[in-house]
Amino acid sequence: MSSAIKIAASILAADFTRLGEEVRQAEAGGTDLFHLDIMDGLFVPNISFGPMVVEAVRGITRLPLDVHLMIEQPERYLTVFARAGADMINVHVETCPHLHRTLYQIKELNLKAGVAINPHTPFEMIRDILPDVDRVLVMSVDPGFGGQKFIQSVLPKIEQIARAARGLDHPVEIGIDGGVDTSTTPAIVASGGNVLIAGSSVFRAPGGIAAGITALRAVARSGAG
Ligand code: DX5
Ligand code: ZN
Repeated sequence: MSSAIKIAASILAADFTRLGEEVRQAEAGGTDLFHLDIMDGLFVPNISFGPMVVEAVRGITRLPLDVHLMIEQPERYLTVFARAGADMINVHVETCPHLHRTLYQIKELNLKAGVAINPHTPFEMIRDILPDVDRVLVMSVDPGFGGQKFIQSVLPKIEQIARAARGLDHPVEIGIDGGVDTSTTPAIVASGGNVLIAGSSVFRAPGGIAAGITALRAVARSGAG
């Protein structure tokens, strides 16, 4: 259903000299939540920002904050990001040898728990953990940078996850992260993605942030029939 599709504005693409203003614009423009990318220069070849920025954003919005940990040994930082104001923490299956333990550590902090999966990591790696997560975060680019091209070959994996999620006794969100724009959204929605995580197509939309969100939502609605 189109009404179930959420838009998560990914602040990585924001102008950090005006972050507060851009967050307010995205909220006024109708984003459902904010996505915050944490990169350590090890798991991904880039360094972004840490808990101070999460805390700063927490101070100016009541919308949910969705923290995406692209870091090695993410279990070391769960409490820090919970204290900073995260509502949801996503950890990568590729970084968690004790995935069940790490997800339950997130839940014990009273946060929603998500598992993120890289474009070329197969569905089988997360199949058995689906009953224990609130969200699957499907990477549709190799993580590390904004503004990359959507990798079409993740679409069948989105379908596999959506099919498996329908058999569960609790709702599991399927977030798609990387290269999400008005041209890729129809296929994402048709495959079963229901959280559109969008950086460039929101914060760098030619018509402005609100227009970027409106355009994504319009395509998501029509794409979902
Ligand atoms: C990429 C990040 C994304 C990023 C997406 O590693 O996880 O959240 O912000 O950026 P766009 O929407 O520009 O592809
Ligand atoms: Zn992300």
